[in-house]
Amino acid sequence: MNVLFSKAPFHFLIYFFLILMGCSVKDDITPDIITPLPTKSLKSASTSFSVGLSTSTPKLDLLSYTQIIEREFESITAEYQMKMNVILPVKGTYNWSKADQIVNYAVSKGLKVHGHALVWHESTPDWLLNYQGTDVQFEQEVKDYITAVVSRYKGKVASWDVVNEGVSDSAGSLRNTVFKQRMGDDYMVKCFQFAHDADPDSKLFYNDYNLETNQAKQNKVFELIEDWKLRKVPIHGIGFQMHISYLTPKDQIQTATNKAVASGLLLFYSELDIRANPNKDISTFTLERSEAQRLKFKEVVQIYNAIPISNKFGITVWGLKDDDSWLLKHHNNFNEWPLLFDANFNAKQAYTGFLEGLN
Ligand code: XIL
Repeated sequence: MNVLFSKAPFHFLIYFFLILMGCSVKDDITPDIITPLPTKSLKSASTSFSVGLSTSTPKLDLLSYTQIIEREFESITAEYQMKMNVILPVKGTYNWSKADQIVNYAVSKGLKVHGHALVWHESTPDWLLNYQGTDVQFEQEVKDYITAVVSRYKGKVASWDVVNEGVSDSAGSLRNTVFKQRMGDDYMVKCFQFAHDADPDSKLFYNDYNLETNQAKQNKVFELIEDWKLRKVPIHGIGFQMHISYLTPKDQIQTATNKAVASGLLLFYSELDIRANPNKDISTFTLERSEAQRLKFKEVVQIYNAIPISNKFGITVWGLKDDDSWLLKHHNNFNEWPLLFDANFNAKQAYTGFLEGLN
């Protein structure tokens, strides 16, 4: 006790000295690529659309994490806990706990929630994938599910991705999912209608990836949208996931964005991340790559910010910190730094780029 007590002032002096020198005790990354948080937050700099973040529980229990959410973002999307295999893993047994936690957190903090995603082939629970009933019963299950979810969060979740990734990567055709097989080629139209019937005020989106770079896919999606508009299908917006890289050509992003604007729908950059190492040619995050990533974030945000206000909905980044990114898990890509914050919660140059794009 005595020893400890006698050393305390000494420790305090060292700590004070470190603070004076501008050192952080927990720092273990290259200081050059860290940007201290500027006085303006992303959400305060963005005056015409919502800046959002994908998130999940139990991250929402961490103060270091929620402080940044509440300072920087106006909207959240559940990264995976509002998908069908989480909410309805077993036929007839809804599990709302995670989705409720996310929505309740958002409501308590005055954040918007974008609902993601009602129908997605990758998050279809096994019981529905291997459904033994008739096609009519299958469709009823889907209808019941969409109705239950959208109704539960009516007034709290103001927008939904109704169908995620319904178009295939090749040949510009519909993706051959169990929904297409069981409910027919018009299954997306039916799903939009189910969602609209459950909450007529909800903004309903079609969401997909590589819409800026895959021409055949882009054509097919806009062809569907034109058809749906003629048929008065209740669709209000298109989501470009925007899982891109620092090498994604600007003109492709611009062209796809122009098409969305011309469609008259809301445009959402719904899952933005920008890979700094798409060709796996670096093993540490270099200054040069950090700069290239900053410029790409700036470019993307500028392109979005320049669209007419009537098409604006938001930009959501897919994860807060580099080490949280789905890309590390899903593409086995351990050397990747695709987000706005580093593993120690420090804002990166990527953050600065986003902010610059808003100015
Ligand atoms: C990913 C999540 O990031 C992962 O945590 C989850 O395990 C699988 O799904 N396109 C989408 C998102 O629409 O739902 C995906 O999210 C990433 C690709």
